[in-house]
Amino acid sequence: MDGTEPEDWPGVLHREGRTLCRLARDPSESGTGPAAKGQGDVFHNPAMSGSRTRSVLLLQHCIEEGLLGNGSIYALDGLSATGLRARRWLNELPAQSATRISATMGDMDPVALSWAMKCHEEFPPEHGKGELLPHLGDLRKSVLEHGRHWVDIDPYGSPLPFLDTAIQSLARRGVAEISATDSAALTGSSKSALLRRYGARVRTDGLAHDSGLRVLLATVARTAARHERSIEPLLSIWESHHLRVSVRVLRSIERANDVEDSLGWRVASPTAEEVSSSIESGLQPETSIDTLPMHCFLPLSHPVNRSDKRISGPMWIGPLGQTEAMVSMTEERALELCGPSAIEDDPVGWSERDFEYERRKVIRSVRHISEEAGVIDAPHLILVDKLASWLGCGSPVSPNSMAEILRDAGYRAAVARYGKPAFRTDAPWNEIVSASIRGGDVSNG
Ligand SMILES: C[S@@+](CC[C@H](N)C(=O)[O-])C[C@H]1O[C@@H](n2cnc3c(N)ncnc32)[C@H](O)[C@@H]1O
Repeated sequence: MDGTEPEDWPGVLHREGRTLCRLARDPSESGTGPAAKGQGDVFHNPAMSGSRTRSVLLLQHCIEEGLLGNGSIYALDGLSATGLRARRWLNELPAQSATRISATMGDMDPVALSWAMKCHEEFPPEHGKGELLPHLGDLRKSVLEHGRHWVDIDPYGSPLPFLDTAIQSLARRGVAEISATDSAALTGSSKSALLRRYGARVRTDGLAHDSGLRVLLATVARTAARHERSIEPLLSIWESHHLRVSVRVLRSIERANDVEDSLGWRVASPTAEEVSSSIESGLQPETSIDTLPMHCFLPLSHPVNRSDKRISGPMWIGPLGQTEAMVSMTEERALELCGPSAIEDDPVGWSERDFEYERRKVIRSVRHISEEAGVIDAPHLILVDKLASWLGCGSPVSPNSMAEILRDAGYRAAVARYGKPAFRTDAPWNEIVSASIRGGDVSNG
């Protein structure tokens, strides 16, 4: 990387979470989407800051729970650009976790790696622990040069070109974090791209982003199965322009053989017969079917007509996350690890208000995740606006009220962290209908 000093260096000083870095230009001037990438620029997307915060929290959870063994942890930020993700791992994890980490930042752009290493040299982890190495090259080849416990893939567009080798590079027990910005394909707007890349169909309704996450998980699960591994989703998030799944990957032929048990279909406006099949397959609880639900899951073995516009899939129909991992993502924990404290004569020039703004951003990045933890395996994700129009019962009841009414009735229910007002619950459909009527009565006085 010598001799490739970035042209724009030293750029502007910036802080994300508790970590200082330099960027070619001021991120506040580039709005919420990816900063326009001119030739020679190192890519930085301020809209991914929440994803980087959650990455720090998830890594800490997995270390604390012993999911990554007891020795050194080899972690790869596979498409690292500015290297901010790997640098945040090292700087924001507590010293006793960071000290176990040997992180590699990989990128095929020498300017990006040079930029990342210069940031690391200027702002090393505050506690001085952990190791950070650059690796120049094409990730599709370089990822197999070393076994890893943690692999992060954050590409432009689809993660598919990197998936196969990334899974193979994982140790017996490891974690893969995978972003996809080809959300138009995954959520069914680009139908041919979705079919070509992921072999699936997604109905472009209110649940399209949940379906997109599940199609991505199904693809990761099938890739893992080809390499005699199984997955356990830890966290699945839709945020602005991207979808991201974090999964535990375990080597196990037996569990890999069972991959199809976790795959299936989502049917919109299901028939009574489809709802009965869903119940018989254990994909939702018994319900009277006087009013039919808006959606239901069916197992992969259920015959479906692929040209039926109501059908989405094949997709992952198991839990989208792991309860323990999600419970650990509280606002307090996020602030403790990633929230910056105001300092006098801040080199970035932040006022007390700027620090407070960043702390609020850190809190927002985990909003609703720990609440949703207890229902992440639940069969129903319900958008309250759609529910009200489906039932023809006036204005929607808030997700919070719906969750409260259902919990009072003895079911599991919580507000969902979804880009639209929604809740998840394990309640039977007929109970959701009566909760909505009760909620409507209360709000109408
Ligand atoms: C979307 S950016 C990564 C953003 C970064 N993870 C973050 O959090 O800011 C994608 C990066 O992947 C790099 N890249 C693209 N194709 C690659 C490949 N085949 N091998 C290695 N790096 C690649 C690009 O140079 C770019 O820096």
